Amino acid sequence: MKFAALTSLLCAVTASLALPSARTTTAKVTYDQTYDNPNGSLNSVACSNGVNGLITKGMFPCRYTDFSSLPNFPFIGGVQGVSWNSTLCGSCWELTYNGTTIDVLAVDYAAAGFNIALEALDQLTYDQAVALGHVDAEFEQVSGTKCGLPA
Ligand SMILES: *[C@@H]1O[C@H](CO)[C@@H](O)[C@H](O)[C@H]1NC(C)=O
Ligand SMILES: *[C@@H]1O[C@H](CO)[C@@H](O)[C@H](O)[C@H]1NC(C)=O
Ligand SMILES: *[C@@H]1O[C@H](CO)[C@@H](O)[C@H](O)[C@H]1NC(C)=O
Repeated sequence: MKFAALTSLLCAVTASLALPSARTTTAKVTYDQTYDNPNGSLNSVACSNGVNGLITKGMFPCRYTDFSSLPNFPFIGGVQGVSWNSTLCGSCWELTYNGTTIDVLAVDYAAAGFNIALEALDQLTYDQAVALGHVDAEFEQVSGTKCGLPA
């Protein structure tokens, strides 16, 4: 049951990004300072309420309300394929660029690839996010615990 659910999730991700292998392929990573705001409301992103929303997922005493209440803030952002009540809400993604790796929590949709907080992209690029505008990073879905979520 659990394995089947995971498999279909991975298949959905692969299909939506139209890429054959997550480990060896890259996706575009852009930034949006909306995700840098600690006071940003989870009501303002795709992963708000609904069974799969982050507001719903947070459990006492770790209720998720604003962006800063998320365990790995500001390593959050939008991921391609996410929509309201998507099972990809709260999924955790390891992005690797130029030998640096970060783990990003999916809280919103992205038009293409990943659209993350400026501070997160700066961490990935030796503070060159603004200069570069975007990068192509390797990506892999990893356990939510890597993004600080409960096991
Ligand atoms: C977030 O809200 C707190 C409390 O209202 C305020 O002190 C702080 O300046 C706000 N931060 C930002 C970045 O808006
Ligand atoms: C959200 O998606 C789940 C399936 O993942 C479904 O059971 C639920 O009815 C959907 N709608 C709401 C409002 O949570
Ligand atoms: C790539 O990594 C090197 C250090 O290994 C660093 O000096 C350089 O600034 C990095 N370039 C980018 C674009 O992140």
